[in-house]
Amino acid sequence: MRRSLYLTALLFIVILLLLQHQSISSQTAVEEPQRVYEFLDDNQECLKCHGQAYYYYYNDWIERDVKERMNPYRIVDSAQFYESNHWNFRCIDCHSEDYSDFPHPGELRMEPKYECIDCHGGDEDYAQYNFEGIEEEFHKSVHSSKHSADFTCWMCHNPHTYEINARSNENMKEFILYDNEICLSCHADVSKYQLLTNLDNPNILDKHGWLPNQGLHFKNVRCIECHAESNEILVAHNIQPKEKAVKRCVDCHSKNSLLLASLYRLQFTDERSIAGFTNAAMLEEAYIIGANRNYYLNRLSIGLFGLVLIFILIHAVLRMTLKHS
Ligand code: HEC
Ligand code: HEC
Ligand code: HEC
Ligand code: HEC
Ligand code: HEC
Ligand code: HEC
Ligand code: HEC
Repeated sequence: MRRSLYLTALLFIVILLLLQHQSISSQTAVEEPQRVYEFLDDNQECLKCHGQAYYYYYNDWIERDVKERMNPYRIVDSAQFYESNHWNFRCIDCHSEDYSDFPHPGELRMEPKYECIDCHGGDEDYAQYNFEGIEEEFHKSVHSSKHSADFTCWMCHNPHTYEINARSNENMKEFILYDNEICLSCHADVSKYQLLTNLDNPNILDKHGWLPNQGLHFKNVRCIECHAESNEILVAHNIQPKEKAVKRCVDCHSKNSLLLASLYRLQFTDERSIAGFTNAAMLEEAYIIGANRNYYLNRLSIGLFGLVLIFILIHAVLRMTLKHS
């Protein structure tokens, strides 16, 4: 009687372990299909100069090769380019073919650039992103309304490195960092900021001096959580005037935190649930942001659970061997 009880317990444990194993392997099973790069050679024609700190060209006048430094603002990181959304592009899909001449013809500098909407507008394949909605939001934002034509989508979406993150990256810390870097690429860089305005660039750390644990907050929430008007679009694009920014602690530190409607909502897009990623605790009514330090508690309870299992096992084995002898 006892024995069969222990055997059942053992069986139960084995099943538990198997289930655990399966849920882990099903998480790793969803992998991106292998990318096939078609344009490596074509792009190398440009990257042999634009991908390096130095480039060479043949100088007809003095009839020999010359080595020069590439302007750092004109360097395209090829590794990042091939990771980006537009990895399967030729440089000359977006730039004029005449760039294959060197020195580049002077008037190319003035070539008009495509906008996102030129390619993505009205395309069913990208409906999930709602480009039209984003465009409309962006035009209402402080950035666009104050700087209209100069402030383009490319200011935040680097044409050669941008890759979707919040939607697809399961590591929340990573995409928060990625998204905040987008804002800081300007708000923490005077030379880029002053491309758009002659005003001084306000110091971001000073301006948020009222926020306790600033470093912790900037790692755990995105700038847009406080600065963009949240709505049904997955990534809010309407940056509001500073007077409208979220300042009240309870807006986040409460049962119905605004983060549930923006940041944490991202955890529940389709792709993530396929990957088996759920963090239901986040959505539980009782979860109060910043109030739960359950990391150590979790560790402790896993530890206790393990100990109990080991105890049962040893106990069972002892019982059985003792009975037999
Ligand atoms: C022999 C080296 C070399 C090659 C090859 C080259 N470039 Fe350039 N490119 C330069 C230099 C040098 C500049 C000027 C940088 C500066 O502003 O000081 C430049 C500038 C540019 C600019 C900035 C706008 C402008 O007109 O100044 C773009 C865009 C550009 N190149 C695109 C391309 C593309 C696309 C290709 C490939 C089809 C290419 N380049 C191939 C050296 C090269
Ligand atoms: C999806 C379109 C797209 C592709 C693909 C693309 N570019 Fe660009 N590139 C742009 C846009 C748009 C700008 C202007 C950015 C701005 O004005 O802020 C630009 C600017 C540049 C500049 C000027 C410096 C800068 O970064 O602003 C260089 C140089 C350049 N591109 C080279 C390349 C090379 C080399 C490749 C291929 C490896 C390439 N581009 C592929 C869209 C593209
Ligand atoms: C010259 C046309 C062109 C321009 C300009 C352009 N895109 Fe794209 N974009 C594409 C194409 C084509 C793809 C599909 C690439 C693929 O699947 O290989 C793509 C892919 C994407 C993806 C990934 C879609 C997915 O489901 O994997 C995003 C996000 C995206 N673009 C955003 C932007 C944004 C934001 C801008 C402007 C800052 C922009 N694009 C400008 C043509 C363009
Ligand atoms: C002030 C900065 C800023 C500007 C300007 C901006 N974006 Fe974004 N955009 C972001 C940030 C931040 C994200 C989140 C990036 C991520 O994690 O994927 C994003 C994400 C996106 C995405 C992916 C959304 C998703 O559902 O995954 C698209 C598409 C997009 N932007 C299009 C645009 C278009 C089109 C414009 C111009 C009309 C534009 N953006 C202008 C900051 C900006
Ligand atoms: C917890 C909410 C919160 C977060 C997170 C946050 N901000 Fe703010 N931010 C505010 C508030 C509130 C103000 C207005 C402060 C005031 O007027 O005293 C402000 C002001 C600003 C201003 C205007 C400064 C000025 O006075 O001209 C800028 C620019 C800014 N924030 C950018 C950012 C950037 C970039 C990030 C991300 C790195 C960020 N903020 C993160 C709440 C936030
Ligand atoms: C390409 C540069 C650039 C990027 C990228 C950028 N900003 Fe700004 N931002 C500016 C400039 C320039 C101003 C000043 C506008 C003015 O007053 O003329 C500004 C102003 C602001 C303000 C203050 C508005 C006010 O009422 O004075 C806030 C808030 C802000 N940005 C938030 C953000 C956030 C959040 C992001 C990222 C999603 C971001 N910015 C990305 C250039 C940028
Ligand atoms: C935009 C949302 C947001 C706002 C507004 C906000 N916080 Fe937070 N806060 C967070 C997040 C997210 C964390 C990190 C939570 C975590 O690690 O579990 C955090 C963490 C904290 C922590 C650390 C908690 C811990 O367990 O270590 C303190 C203290 C805190 N916030 C106080 C404040 C105060 C005071 C204000 C108002 C001046 C404020 N917060 C405004 C989102 C916010």
